Amino acid sequence: MTQESSSADLALGRRAMVLLDALAQHSDEPTRLTRLYLSQAHRRAAEATLGFMRDAGLASHIDPLGSVVGRLEGTNPDAPALLIGSHIDTVVDAGRYDGTLGVVLGIVVAEALRRQGVAPSCPIEIVAFGDEENARFPTNLSTSQALSGRYDPTWLDGTDQEGVTLRDALLAFGGDPAGIATVKRDAARYRGYLEVHIEQGPQLEAAGHAVGIVSAINGITRARAVVTGEAGHAGTVPMTMRRDALAATAEMVVAIERTGAIRLDTVATVGVAQVQPGAINVIPARVDFTLDARAPDDAVRRTMVADIVAECEAIAQKRGVELSLEPFMDSPATPMDARLMRVFEDTFASLGREPMRVASGAGHDAVAMAHLCPSAMLFVRCKGGVSHNPAESITVEDADVAARVLLQAVKTLVA
Ligand code: HGY
Ligand code: MN
Ligand code: MN
Repeated sequence: MTQESSSADLALGRRAMVLLDALAQHSDEPTRLTRLYLSQAHRRAAEATLGFMRDAGLASHIDPLGSVVGRLEGTNPDAPALLIGSHIDTVVDAGRYDGTLGVVLGIVVAEALRRQGVAPSCPIEIVAFGDEENARFPTNLSTSQALSGRYDPTWLDGTDQEGVTLRDALLAFGGDPAGIATVKRDAARYRGYLEVHIEQGPQLEAAGHAVGIVSAINGITRARAVVTGEAGHAGTVPMTMRRDALAATAEMVVAIERTGAIRLDTVATVGVAQVQPGAINVIPARVDFTLDARAPDDAVRRTMVADIVAECEAIAQKRGVELSLEPFMDSPATPMDARLMRVFEDTFASLGREPMRVASGAGHDAVAMAHLCPSAMLFVRCKGGVSHNPAESITVEDADVAARVLLQAVKTLVA
């Protein structure tokens, strides 16, 4: 059954699309949307978000790690607050809805509460996190982890592809590495965290649902690998005498793909590979590549990663190259809060919608926030399930449905 009912004028959905299009203008690159953590585009998008939050009547600031925080006081300022958020950083050549949709819908809901004269009993905080994609530095949800007091100080020394440390980028952004502790929230002061996000998968579209309730978020292992061989003349070194780092890496990539495909519920991806020295007539001496491996079950994921490492080490030995493979992220599979999921389900029912539960193959700030307070997510259908791709798209109707579900759930939770 297709459920397309949405409010007559789609006012909330249209408002969301306006804010999404405004944020999409802030990119580090002229011809595609790339907004990496602490970049100039991130700064511009953070300031634009600050403006949207202030216009919605929220007391707002940019925190020492670059997240934008807006707060609406409740009639009882001592009551535990409700958090709503997502991220405004993007991958390279991104779509405009991944992350920003959850931030924008939080702002749209705050605007609607004010317009409807609804005074929440408790404070509501809206947060636009800045480092969910971890696309620039070897971190793991650093800006949301900071709220739950789990910021790893070694992240500050991590470097991007230009060798810039997170610490230096943060200072250049106008942030404050010394202020990390001030970002930590007191768990007793927060009743829950809600995040709306595009599904980035095909399940809602296939089932004809505009929105779904996230049941759990898959665990993720990420690693950086370096394969070191020996540069040589492409024309003179016999094939049997080479230590070709790229040929060895290619065999490893196929082994990683094969291992990730053994089970239907696991995935393994090599997303980045950099070849040195990178000349047409030089046998590659070094390849830096990344591994991203995921599963709904942590034991299954860790076994898969161990198998991948063993296969790559055997290939390295056979080919006489060196391999270093350093995991820098182990994000556990995270179930969403049962009570908040029921609030979403009751909200769906009150709006005449049939609830559909969806597991998340993608990681989200909700994984970090679940360490602070009960957390739940709402997924929104995206065309073809396409994401991390400029073709990523949602409809204004579905944005409107998501806004109305979030608004109703927030009203329930802050009554
Ligand atoms: O990679 C992920 O799952 C998320 O988009 N950062
Ligand atoms: Mn995202
Ligand atoms: Mn993403």
